[in-house]
Amino acid sequence: MSAHPAPTTRLTLGDLARKKAAGEPIVMVTAYDHPGARIVEAAGVDMVLVGDSAAMTVLGHDSTVPVTTDEMLMLTRAVRRGLVRPLLVGDLPFGSYEASDELALATAQRFVKEAGVDLVKIERGGTTVDRARALVNAGIPVVGHVGLTPQTATALGGFRAQGRTAEAALAVIDDALALQDAGVSLIVVEAVPAPVTAALMPLLRIPVIGIGAGPDVDGQVLVFHDLLGLSEGPAPTFVKRYADVRTVSVEGVAAYASEVRSGAYPASTHVYGMPEGEAARLREMLAGR
Ligand code: KIV
Repeated sequence: MSAHPAPTTRLTLGDLARKKAAGEPIVMVTAYDHPGARIVEAAGVDMVLVGDSAAMTVLGHDSTVPVTTDEMLMLTRAVRRGLVRPLLVGDLPFGSYEASDELALATAQRFVKEAGVDLVKIERGGTTVDRARALVNAGIPVVGHVGLTPQTATALGGFRAQGRTAEAALAVIDDALALQDAGVSLIVVEAVPAPVTAALMPLLRIPVIGIGAGPDVDGQVLVFHDLLGLSEGPAPTFVKRYADVRTVSVEGVAAYASEVRSGAYPASTHVYGMPEGEAARLREMLAGR
């Protein structure tokens, strides 16, 4: 039987390598549902991460820790259904990969089989380097994540920049190098001083995506809700708000509430009619009962 692969316009890891070589920035953003996926696809991003930041942005937790594998899979499947061109990254949640290579592989395989991700992301250096190697050896492309790793933020002293002393910076750099040696395809560097990123970049051959890591990277990632102004409260230093969707949304829902209360909604244009004579027949039928 001859193979006739379905045409696809999805980007590949080779495209990312070419972008790095050409100095063309890679654009990554998070998404957590189907409408979000359709928005980021329409905006022409290169990569979409269904981050475990979903725990905070869409599930209302105060950290990324509580989100479960099943919850992440449900969100990731919804995003998959909305994407064509960008590469999709699934984020393995806290507790779903750290304990053993077997656990990491079983969880990552669920993300590939059940949610169609192109890559999986895992946090930290240390024992995560072994998990990364096991996944790569099993044929699953991996994104590493160093610097501020929210799943273990408590141990890092909270949601704060990492690598602010030379020793701490060296630890971040060593984590990234160990992950590269383990074969990861990409590294996310979160919340580290720009000079640390600048020192790291010449040491890495794989693409580096920054979030709060300054400009000397191969691409940037931001959280959908942060960049669109959907999140409440103060944002981290590195967030730039490109829209104020929360204000527009509150105004829209408040206008609806006001029109329901005043009777202005629904207007005649929002109402179904009946064919000629049917309403009169109905009244007769009811009167005849
Ligand atoms: O979970 C997430 O959204 C992330 C990004 C902030 C990199 O890990």
